[in-house]
Amino acid sequence: MPVKKVPLIVGNWKMNKTPVEARLLAQAMVRDLADVDGVDVVICPPFTALPVVAEVIRNTNIMLGAQNMHYEKTGAYTGEVSPLFLKELGCAYVLLGHSERRQQFGETDEVVSRKLKAALDAGLAPIVCLGETLAERKKGDAFRRLKEQFRQSVVTVVKEFDTITIAYEPVWAIGTGLNAEPEQAAEAHQFLRGLADEEYGELWTHNLRILYGGSVTAANVDELLAQPQIDGVLVGGASLKSDFVRIVRFQTPA
Ligand code: PGA
Repeated sequence: MPVKKVPLIVGNWKMNKTPVEARLLAQAMVRDLADVDGVDVVICPPFTALPVVAEVIRNTNIMLGAQNMHYEKTGAYTGEVSPLFLKELGCAYVLLGHSERRQQFGETDEVVSRKLKAALDAGLAPIVCLGETLAERKKGDAFRRLKEQFRQSVVTVVKEFDTITIAYEPVWAIGTGLNAEPEQAAEAHQFLRGLADEEYGELWTHNLRILYGGSVTAANVDELLAQPQIDGVLVGGASLKSDFVRIVRFQTPA
């Protein structure tokens, strides 16, 4: 049975909230989560709202994350954002390889692995997203795909499992209202942890946190986090609502 780590709850705001709206949402979270302890909370607003949210959450128990970054530090990459810029703005975390980036913006495992290395070099804690599509799951190909993604985007690069987080996000569960069953998610988490242990040994991977993401809500978070293999959640839609407060205040059997 894996040892329970400090749970990590991440809100991915995606392409929602203007800077003005983001300030209000962040202020509400600071107020409603002020007494929360023993949980790591990260919010990932759009790039344009990072400065204002950084200001609102400074010296609180909420940390800042970005949703993406480029793998180069500077240069002729029109429209891209460097890990150095994120660091200077106060980001502690960065999401990498989200399925929306992979599917809509052509990010490959190779690109994700370059970003992972660049994030670590910049002192950002990367959250690498992996997950199978519905077609892959139906074909019985889910674990093969997870192994491929893990090997190609994570293993080639690093051993820093104290800093890296993995998010298991089955593509069919993202934004669909169809979350993975807790046991189903736990099985995938067990599989991913097994891959990491096999590759590096448990000594290295002991502190690795594996999050579940895909239609997490206030109504299903307790049973998901009751699974010992699930070390936290990555929340999209529900992170824009007061639900997020209840998610951070999840309750699992002692
Ligand atoms: P969702 O998104 O919670 O809206 O399904 C999760 C994610 O994309 O990280």
